[in-house]
Amino acid sequence: MYTDDQIAALYDVLGPWAKSDDFYLDLVMDAQSVLDVGCGTGMQLHRAREAGHTGRLVGIDPDPSMLRIARRYPDIDWLDGTAASMTFAGEFDLAIMMGHAFQVLITDDDVRASLAAIKRALAPGGRFAFETRNPLARAWERWNPENATEVDAPWGERVRVSHVVKSVTGDVVSMTETTSAVDGTSERVDHGDIRFLDIDSLAGFLEEAGFEIEAQYGTWDRAAFEPSSPEIITIARR
Ligand SMILES: C[S@@+](CC[C@H](N)C(=O)[O-])C[C@H]1O[C@@H](n2cnc3c(N)ncnc32)[C@H](O)[C@@H]1O
Repeated sequence: MYTDDQIAALYDVLGPWAKSDDFYLDLVMDAQSVLDVGCGTGMQLHRAREAGHTGRLVGIDPDPSMLRIARRYPDIDWLDGTAASMTFAGEFDLAIMMGHAFQVLITDDDVRASLAAIKRALAPGGRFAFETRNPLARAWERWNPENATEVDAPWGERVRVSHVVKSVTGDVVSMTETTSAVDGTSERVDHGDIRFLDIDSLAGFLEEAGFEIEAQYGTWDRAAFEPSSPEIITIARR
């Protein structure tokens, strides 16, 4: 049975630096003070510091194992907490919520409370950039054992990670993630829910929270959003 720390250590191996990270890095480097909500292992802010960002960088995440990895990087504030728990007031030019972290907000109440806290954290005119998978592209239909990924784990073992969708109820997809040694000696199954807000519902929540949508893209190349786009990438202004 793998530990929480091992599962967190696999995270960056399974999802190495990609186009989406470059998209956010451009925004981060242009902002003086940045808040990364659901920062995970902290790769984005770490890269920003390495690239010469000299301003304030703060990452927040409720998962202690992810934070333990993030805290290896100095000169960045790493905080334990959820989006909704944040009490920052007018302190940041930019907030980001990347790696589909926004989709872990399942209930309307949590979406509202999280957006309210993010808005409060931003200075007037500050921007919130985040993405959520476009439900019309139905990504969950490809989350099955035939599309399992195999990687070399940092502890020197070959592991396989696969997903099974258990239910789709409204816009919430419930699934399991199975991490197993390819030789079959160890296995761990985690359960998770992910919400796929459609573009109109998302706009409604943002407007209600007091955000104005400045730009919306469907791909990391900044192509305009269209119904077949894989992502809904939003830059909203307080
Ligand atoms: C898919 S990971 C994305 C991590 C990171 N942003 C990235 O791009 O690699 C989702 C992250 O959201 C965090 N998370 C879960 N619930 C949260 C909440 N209510 N508020 C903020 N972050 C949350 C998880 O602990 C996890 O690290």
